Amino acid sequence: MCGIVGYVGKEQVAPILLDGLSRLEYRGYDSAGIACMENGTIRVNKAKGRLQVLSDMIDGGNAVASTLGIGHTRWATHGKPSDENSHPHMSQKGKFAIVHNGIIENYSEIKASLIADGVQFASETDSEVICNLLEKFYEGDLLKAVKKTVDVLEGSYALGIICHEYEDRFIAVRHASPLIVGLSDKGNFVASDIPAILSYTRKIYHLGEGEIVELTGDKVRVFNSDLEPVIKQAEEITWDVKSAEKDGYDYFMEKEIMEQPRALHDTISPRIDDHGEIVLDGVHLTREDIEGYRRIYITACGSAYHVGMVGKYIIEKMTRIPVEVDLASEFRYRDPIVDDKTLMIIISQSGETADTLAALREGKKRGARILSIVNVVGSSIANESDDVLYTWAGPEIAVATTKAYSTQLSMMYLIALYMADKLELMAKEEIRTLLASLIQVPELVEQVIETTRPQIMELAKQYHGVEHAYYLGRNVDYAVAMEASLKLKEVSYVHSEAYAAGELKHGTISLIEEGTLVVALAGCHRVIEKTVSNIQEVKARGAKVIVVTTEDNTGVEKVSDHVIYLPKVKELFLPSVEVVPMQMLGFYLAKERGCDVDKPRNLAKSVTVE
Ligand code: F6R
Repeated sequence: MCGIVGYVGKEQVAPILLDGLSRLEYRGYDSAGIACMENGTIRVNKAKGRLQVLSDMIDGGNAVASTLGIGHTRWATHGKPSDENSHPHMSQKGKFAIVHNGIIENYSEIKASLIADGVQFASETDSEVICNLLEKFYEGDLLKAVKKTVDVLEGSYALGIICHEYEDRFIAVRHASPLIVGLSDKGNFVASDIPAILSYTRKIYHLGEGEIVELTGDKVRVFNSDLEPVIKQAEEITWDVKSAEKDGYDYFMEKEIMEQPRALHDTISPRIDDHGEIVLDGVHLTREDIEGYRRIYITACGSAYHVGMVGKYIIEKMTRIPVEVDLASEFRYRDPIVDDKTLMIIISQSGETADTLAALREGKKRGARILSIVNVVGSSIANESDDVLYTWAGPEIAVATTKAYSTQLSMMYLIALYMADKLELMAKEEIRTLLASLIQVPELVEQVIETTRPQIMELAKQYHGVEHAYYLGRNVDYAVAMEASLKLKEVSYVHSEAYAAGELKHGTISLIEEGTLVVALAGCHRVIEKTVSNIQEVKARGAKVIVVTTEDNTGVEKVSDHVIYLPKVKELFLPSVEVVPMQMLGFYLAKERGCDVDKPRNLAKSVTVE
């Protein structure tokens, strides 16, 4: 959330910043701006709205003759989206410009003391205190002024800083908000995320907590928070550039839905060896460790939390260890019962979600062992975990997650089977058979995309005018219904709710009337008869019902208006195939409604604020 990019080198900077920001726009799109050094002065261009507004203002960057600058794309926290609240912010006397991602929690006190010193503020943001602190503390030594400033700040911040006295360098800081450094022969970069600089360099440093970096065109110096030099090891990014581009699709979300068979294959197959055994490279849990756990917490936010809901069913079933699924934003404020007999499974695509990271730290403080499922290598959650399992989904750019959800889910199966195997709760042969089915999941997902897509496009045409939708399901179908409902509401703005099918009659059924759209997930064989009864209840009250089930359940046709058939699949892996048409329904319905699918209103990816 909020994107930062900075560059210093031989090239004209503004087009580079605009290009980088265009690849970071998924992190926020309320406004955009750049600050560049031009003949000893800082020139700021910024505007409310999408990046294109800024780009038009400066002729695609050509109007700014400079080789050093910082840029920002904003997801508003303090102060509405406006030109004034856009970043970069300039200090009152024009000596410093900054871009900031995160929240300064003690900004009110800092602002009050700066106002008492006579400083006037131009915006409502928390960020503006940073450039004014820099101006206050600057006495000819840039790094010292940065240190004095960050020592005062509380909260989270990734910063890009330029000072009018330095034509050849700028500073960046990372504290509880992601930032990487890119290295190249033509200059050096900072960015919130890899896609911003992937077309310029593949050589990067991941900055650590509290690190401060000084960049010139041919040198990068990294310091810890006490300004002691830090030796960094450059990493090589192996992603294909296309993985961060639309590659012929109109939307990243559509591309990422279609990429799921590949992402699943890349995530699952390296974890099953030639003998059909599980190899979880980043996990070092022994049988004794697992036997010692009295409970497992799965903690995450949003869609990752929905993965946890499926995980609870699977892990409890296979290991008989009680599993609690917790929203990360609630976990640390409720005095959770956690000790060294607790395993915490943390799920996060970005690895930077503030609530999830805070829950991880709380759990760790109380003695839990942390096993994380993360998509971004080197992210904070990965760094702070005891065991890490990477999903190999590749960069996920659309704000609404699809392929990260699916790969996280596949990790849940692997973890459950890994534990069941260690505990010898299942026969080796049974585990092998299940793994053999798991390895088929990518193909099944491919088949589901092919067979259901045309029907879903038709349904989207037919139902794009609805204002409300209800998703029902029991058992794992309910967990998938939660994700299906979130997908629809976040990209199409159709009000939607998910219910355990048996729960509807306890209140919510009063909302069902003639024509209300109900999507019933009815793949789970053990409870299908029960779900069918609940479908009949809503049908009797006039609902239009779409049922999602497997091809052997043709009986549901009698109680529904439409049936989306899935291939027969082992019940354990049902969620993996069931979610895919639901992602497509959300996507195509939003497209029919003319929504900006990749950049839904008010949302941003990688939520680094609480
Ligand atoms: C919804 C979505 C969000 C994320 C949530 C957690 O489509 O993408 O609900 O799942 O913000 O993000 P990560 O996984 O990065 O921690």
